[in-house]
Amino acid sequence: MPQTIIAGNWKMNKDLRESEDLLIALKSALATIPSGTTVVVCPPFTSLALAGSLLNGSAIALGAQNMYVEDEGAFTGEVSPRMLLAVGCRYVILGHSERRQYFHETDEFINRKAKKAHAAGLIPIICVGETLQEREKNITPLVITTQVRGCLQGLTPAQMKRTVIAYEPVWAIGTGKNATPQQAQEVHALIRSLVKEMFGTDVADAVTIQYGGSVKPENAAELLRQKDINGALVGGACLKADSFSAIVRASA
Ligand code: PGA
Repeated sequence: MPQTIIAGNWKMNKDLRESEDLLIALKSALATIPSGTTVVVCPPFTSLALAGSLLNGSAIALGAQNMYVEDEGAFTGEVSPRMLLAVGCRYVILGHSERRQYFHETDEFINRKAKKAHAAGLIPIICVGETLQEREKNITPLVITTQVRGCLQGLTPAQMKRTVIAYEPVWAIGTGKNATPQQAQEVHALIRSLVKEMFGTDVADAVTIQYGGSVKPENAAELLRQKDINGALVGGACLKADSFSAIVRASA
């Protein structure tokens, strides 16, 4: 059985003071978490150290939104997996559609990052998803297949078991327009079958596949009820403790 993981991607929101307020509110709103659910928050880099100390000893795990593929050196502006571990991160989001779109990240580069994350001991949350244009052209399965194969190739089965995949249709991100549970389930089933093809049934049955794209308290339960949806990657609705904690409760 895959683990249910609800993760909040804060994106480029919340300065240090605002982060502190939200983290304190989250700690109290999520003092109890449904059994079987893992909760992860992914604040911006500048708030990670603070979050690491505030969340220490709580049931909320910490993740970063990105990382580079080297441990240290002359890579101006980048942050290494070792640095993330040192402030308490256990997860790292890789290949978010905004990184693909604005920072030209490719499947090949995301694949290198995934391998590096595992080597360092971080759990990658690897994002895939089609654009509106691709969906309208009916090439969603082809796009997802290419992304999944490209991002996951060469991982060991043990690494793959610990990898989280997030299906995030680009047209549903930040638009308020979520995929219907049926649309999402269809793609999630495809992703699981691809994992099975590459890594075997055992791994496919264990891997967590999150849905992301306008997840809110109102639609979370129905999305999470789908057979192959094992969690959510939440953007906008994770910036308030009440809406994020309502989504976490919907996973029960
Ligand atoms: P959203 O973002 O929930 O604001 O649509 C999701 C994401 O980009 O991870």
